[in-house]
Amino acid sequence: MKFFKPPYRSAVCCIGLLFLLASLPAAAALRSVGAVVQAIKSNEGYDLRLSSGALARISFVTPDVVRVRISPKARFEADNSYAMAQAPSRAKAVMATLNGATLELRSASGTRVVIRKTPELVIQIFDAAGRLVSADDPARPTTFDVEEGSFETAKLRDDYELYYGFGEKALPLSRHQQQLVMWNSDVPDYAPGHDPSYQAIPFFIALHEGRGHGLFFNNSWRSWFDMGKTDPQRYRFGSAGGELDYFVFTGGPERSPARVLSDYTALTGRGALPPLWALGYQQSRWSYKTQDEVLGVAREFRQRRIPADVLYLDIDHMDGFRVFTWNPQTFPQPGELLITLHQQGFRAVTIVDPGIKKDEGYAIYRSGRAAGVYMRNADGSELNAKVWPGVCAFPDFTSAAARDWFGRLYEAPLDLGVDGFWNDMNEPGVFAPDGFAKPEISLGPQKSFALDAQHAGDGRPGSHARYHNVYGMQMARASFEGLRRLRPQKRPMLLTRAGFAGVQRYAAVWTGDNSATWTHLALTIPMLTNLSVSGVPFVGADVGGFMGSPSAELYTRWLQAAALTPYLRTHSSDVSAPREPWAFGPEHERINRQIIELRYRLLPYLYSLFEASERTGLPPMRPLWFAYPGDTQASLVDDQFLLGADLLVAPVLHEGRSERLVYFPKGDAWLDWDSGQRHEGGSFATIPAPLERLPLFVRVGATVPTQAPVQHTGEMLQSALTLNVAWGAAGSSDMFQDAGEGYGYRQGASRTLRMMQDAQGLRLDIPPNAGFQRVAAVEFLGLESAPARRLRVALPDEGVKQVRPALGQQRPASLVPAGVSP
Ligand code: GLC
Repeated sequence: MKFFKPPYRSAVCCIGLLFLLASLPAAAALRSVGAVVQAIKSNEGYDLRLSSGALARISFVTPDVVRVRISPKARFEADNSYAMAQAPSRAKAVMATLNGATLELRSASGTRVVIRKTPELVIQIFDAAGRLVSADDPARPTTFDVEEGSFETAKLRDDYELYYGFGEKALPLSRHQQQLVMWNSDVPDYAPGHDPSYQAIPFFIALHEGRGHGLFFNNSWRSWFDMGKTDPQRYRFGSAGGELDYFVFTGGPERSPARVLSDYTALTGRGALPPLWALGYQQSRWSYKTQDEVLGVAREFRQRRIPADVLYLDIDHMDGFRVFTWNPQTFPQPGELLITLHQQGFRAVTIVDPGIKKDEGYAIYRSGRAAGVYMRNADGSELNAKVWPGVCAFPDFTSAAARDWFGRLYEAPLDLGVDGFWNDMNEPGVFAPDGFAKPEISLGPQKSFALDAQHAGDGRPGSHARYHNVYGMQMARASFEGLRRLRPQKRPMLLTRAGFAGVQRYAAVWTGDNSATWTHLALTIPMLTNLSVSGVPFVGADVGGFMGSPSAELYTRWLQAAALTPYLRTHSSDVSAPREPWAFGPEHERINRQIIELRYRLLPYLYSLFEASERTGLPPMRPLWFAYPGDTQASLVDDQFLLGADLLVAPVLHEGRSERLVYFPKGDAWLDWDSGQRHEGGSFATIPAPLERLPLFVRVGATVPTQAPVQHTGEMLQSALTLNVAWGAAGSSDMFQDAGEGYGYRQGASRTLRMMQDAQGLRLDIPPNAGFQRVAAVEFLGLESAPARRLRVALPDEGVKQVRPALGQQRPASLVPAGVSP
């Protein structure tokens, strides 16, 4: 270490002092909102005039959702937000003054907001049972820097309070004692722990002593959260601009995480049911470079009998990376290519980046310029930056005209037969003007538009600093709305890399450019489950890791871990070794096929979960704590997940293992999917997991549908269903069926089967079959005293009302047809 000599030291002190003095005005400008000087009643709550001149508005959105807004300039913006599906509702509040110093608001459900007026505004929220949900920290009043526009607020926390959500973060499962930044960033090869990432969602669910609540910070500026890292007594959050506007979800009388998420998605929207084919296996690479190569890959899948539904065309299918074009040399007959793929039961997805090549010879560029849809610099000139095609212009997706213009561009690929689309680079990520190599640029916030670039903001013009975080989701919106208009009878299949709260209304999300390492494989579960509880149901990670080349073992284990995640796609970089499921030799090919077949067997179950998700906001992929909030052991399990309520998935995430420890959450018992062996809730067990085995368990009491193997979803109608009954406890499960495409299901063209288990057997409620997959058998798992642990009973037709497994007797099960009383 080098020491300064005294003269230097004093010089350093002087510089330090100057620095301090220079920063003082900013510090001095930070001021507290102050005390309540006047309270004005409205139907839903109070407007509070504060001694600093600020105005606070506290109201109920629903009886269990409280909204807090504070404007330092005492002027609220019109209530628009890209996050919300529609303007928030309002619920009536009953007001009372408890004493001179305290006000109280009470909703119909009994949720209470207690407002302390002096010496500083303090807001506390209690549930109907009188338990504290959330409380301002009196020692850290809300402060604003009126000149700069930044602000922060603080809430008290308990050491044992955990936090989940916040969108896509390469961070540990619970975000307690973490600092998080909300700023969508293109972060190729991100290191675990690196933040921010591609997708910011300023919403979290807190879990404390088995009870949940949630908080959504409705602010699209660069914001931050410190969840007890600086000081475990409190969590703080703030933003560089905009309004302090947040919603507290109390979780209703049940205080459950599920209720919190349901209320949050009622506000920000729910993921729409995707087309069935989008749940099949998808194969991608940057890039399959010619149409012959694509056809070759398709052929291999079918010849090798590895099920698959979708092939991807990355940027090289385009002519000089110009979006919505085809390379005439390498893809000379895209129409024929698509016809052949369709004949083989494949769908095709093409990539669409936001950058439009600045090229006078490119009609789309000229059309965008003529329509005035491009982003502008602060001086009003067209914003240009380099991406794959070289210098580009970028649509301003915060303008309805730009969204409409962009949405129409999908007409040509749809007419040609492209089935789905992939919006990438929409953080937006651009290349540094002087090259791509410097990590401080390539991983830093500079890798986007200048903060003072201009956005239309749908009638609320503003800077990129304000709209950066919604750029990606508004691109996805432009695509989604365009596709809906162009093909009203079809469900859009859209994938996006960037997004914000509410992105689930438009697209599936994948976790960007991860790496082919075991660490990244393990990261997929905390990343995807946290995205799921951030309201985004359709999520996945590039199988095998985008950057680099996985070993055969890593690829197979990754495929296993991903097989039951909502979005399943193998994808890799331009320099990765080939990564089709057969690329690792015959033994791995056999195992990889089996894994994909397992996915396909369970598709009827997965599809039902997506339909339920559209109705309830509950994601198909769930962390254990979400379903078992009262189980403290479950709260930190980051290497297992639940698929719906009924399946527990425990993949092997480490090299060279042939067994793993599995935790079975408390409150339910679980049966091994393969052996039928029973595990009690609240217990651990070491489970054999040789390379070909994904440890999978089914909840006792549940009935999970499976189908016979198919090569793609187009064959499902011919494949019969088996209802797999996890025998041993009363319970019921539903299965949804429809055409797998289109919106007929919203007009009743669907059926929901109900399977109810009790001591008598399985009772079936199977509505008439209007052309859906047929139920052909019931299989009981986990029988103790029947002829075997597993008993299969064929159903001659669907008119069977009850199946009795004939326990303890060496005779077949009995079937009770409809119309006969059991
Ligand atoms: C970005 C995407 C990656 C894609 C590549 C080329 O890195 O994240 O998935 O393959 O661009 O388009």
